Amino acid sequence: CGIIGATANCSDVVPLIIRGLQRLEYRGYDSVGIAVVGNNELAVRKGAGELEVVRRRLSLDEMRGLTGIGHTRWATHGPPNDVNAHPHTDCTGTIAIVHNGVIRNYASLKEELLARGHRIRSDTDTELVAHLIEEGVKEGKDFVSALAQALSRVEGTYAFAIVNSREPDRVYFAKNRSPLLVGVGDKVKAVASDVPALLDITRDIVFLEDGEFGYVTPREVVIYRLTPSGYERLSDEEVRSRVRHVDISPEAASKGGYPHFMIKEIYEQPQAVRDTYEGNVEDPALGRVSSAILSANKVIVVAAGTSYHAGLVFSSLLARRAGILAHTIISSELPYLVDSIDGGDLVIAVSQSGETYDTLEAVRKAKERGAAVVGVTNVLGSALDRESQLRLYTRAGPEIGVAATKTFLSQVMLLELLSIRAGEASGRLRPSEANELLRALREVPQVLANTLEASDPVATALSKGLSGSAYILGRGLGAAIAREGALKVKEIAYVHAEAYPAGESKHGPIALVERGFPVFIVATSDAREVAGNAVEMAARGARVYVVKPADLGLELEGRESITRIDMPPSSGVLELEPFILTPLFQLLSYRVAVSRGYNPDKPRNLAKTVTVE
Ligand code: G6P
Repeated sequence: CGIIGATANCSDVVPLIIRGLQRLEYRGYDSVGIAVVGNNELAVRKGAGELEVVRRRLSLDEMRGLTGIGHTRWATHGPPNDVNAHPHTDCTGTIAIVHNGVIRNYASLKEELLARGHRIRSDTDTELVAHLIEEGVKEGKDFVSALAQALSRVEGTYAFAIVNSREPDRVYFAKNRSPLLVGVGDKVKAVASDVPALLDITRDIVFLEDGEFGYVTPREVVIYRLTPSGYERLSDEEVRSRVRHVDISPEAASKGGYPHFMIKEIYEQPQAVRDTYEGNVEDPALGRVSSAILSANKVIVVAAGTSYHAGLVFSSLLARRAGILAHTIISSELPYLVDSIDGGDLVIAVSQSGETYDTLEAVRKAKERGAAVVGVTNVLGSALDRESQLRLYTRAGPEIGVAATKTFLSQVMLLELLSIRAGEASGRLRPSEANELLRALREVPQVLANTLEASDPVATALSKGLSGSAYILGRGLGAAIAREGALKVKEIAYVHAEAYPAGESKHGPIALVERGFPVFIVATSDAREVAGNAVEMAARGARVYVVKPADLGLELEGRESITRIDMPPSSGVLELEPFILTPLFQLLSYRVAVSRGYNPDKPRNLAKTVTVE
């Protein structure tokens, strides 16, 4: 979701909010809403649909106020409809809030608030926060303390912007793990999810840190920091020293300062997988899907493109953790195997968009045979979401670049959580082992940030020499990662890259290898045998690159033609390795494309979502 808030001393802020929302629309376009405070009254207009549609329907341009907030939604909690659109208000109708993030303890908070007599209108997690603040205000607290109290009750990720009719010149804000910035203009102060949304107001920005909250008025910026015992105010000097002047062109702006959506989304991966983890780790839906997996006769995963590769990662880990063989099948091939499916089977369909024709067709055919369907998608309310009996959401945020990057690693994160839960339910993983794996997965955002830092210079260096053809090989989990790597290199760099399980080399493909032929080996800790394949390839003159976690020891017999590419360590935790080994190939394909003048956001002949056969 995208959020914005602004307050000015003498001009209407609504045009600024609408302009900001236009720049934020890439973050979601399910629904839109604005709240303004004028004459000590709060006015809210909101509805389902894209910004321009809602703008006309609800005459958003007619709203007036010196202070206001706006939101463009990408639904997570609750379907995209008018009621669930932001802003949300409390029972008194004096507090309005917009939110980006996922509140994890949503269910228990809601129960509590209902028990205390609150009327909750929407299905969103956000509305609950308005009611929590309302309680603090009713207890006689000032708004800052009421907000701090509410924040102490909330677990999960959030960026909030809040207005209230009693303080018509203030926009309150709070941040934890969702991006939020303060714009420090001369006559207007503002908050927003990203820099582009603020560009019509100012280029002087304070990048907020997690655990910070506060408010802006047209004249000042006040920031507090949550502490274990309460909160403390940052000195004006400290706030002033944190103002940065950003210099970005309007064209780059919509890409958040990056030259392409693809690279922006590659670098958004730590946040995306964090949202996937936080939004799912305690979701009872994972337990329901695990039970369905355990009781099914056969588990069949259907998916296309990159999502198919996430399916392969899943089947590798499900076998290991739960002892269950899942058949991962390319969606468009399912019709030819459908006679083997019946009512006792479970089909898990993985699709970022939830709209891919091949995957929907596979699901429909499997349903006709009586199978139950689990939809794993990034888009709430998509066709797959509607077709499925059980639903899981990756919650990676909107992906605009045609090649899937952050949604792939989010799918991997979600499916790993599922395989751990299934492992626990099957009795093969002890609860302590499952918890240890979950703890390791909580560290993935940091691991991924380190990986991106390590991968990018290597990718740039390798991009210069990549042309013609290459093999990308792995075994076990590494074979799935290799396939995704090869797809990226093909679709974005336009270099022919072939992936197959490394053990197959000797059954044919090695015939193509001659001096200088590039071979990438993706080495994972379940398959140290790939070292042998690397040596075989090197013996035939191949230029071999072994991409591996730094702490994975391999016997490579000191051959000069083998280059080891050490990525951050995995401590042998297999679940971490897709996050450690995939980004190099994303970045390699991107760097090749850019250096050769191809547009990585719009690769030729491809579309983000293929809704035809
Ligand atoms: C298209 C896209 C790919 C994507 C595939 C499956 O081919 O270009 O990036 O992986 O569709 O899309 P889905 O939305 O079902 O995951």
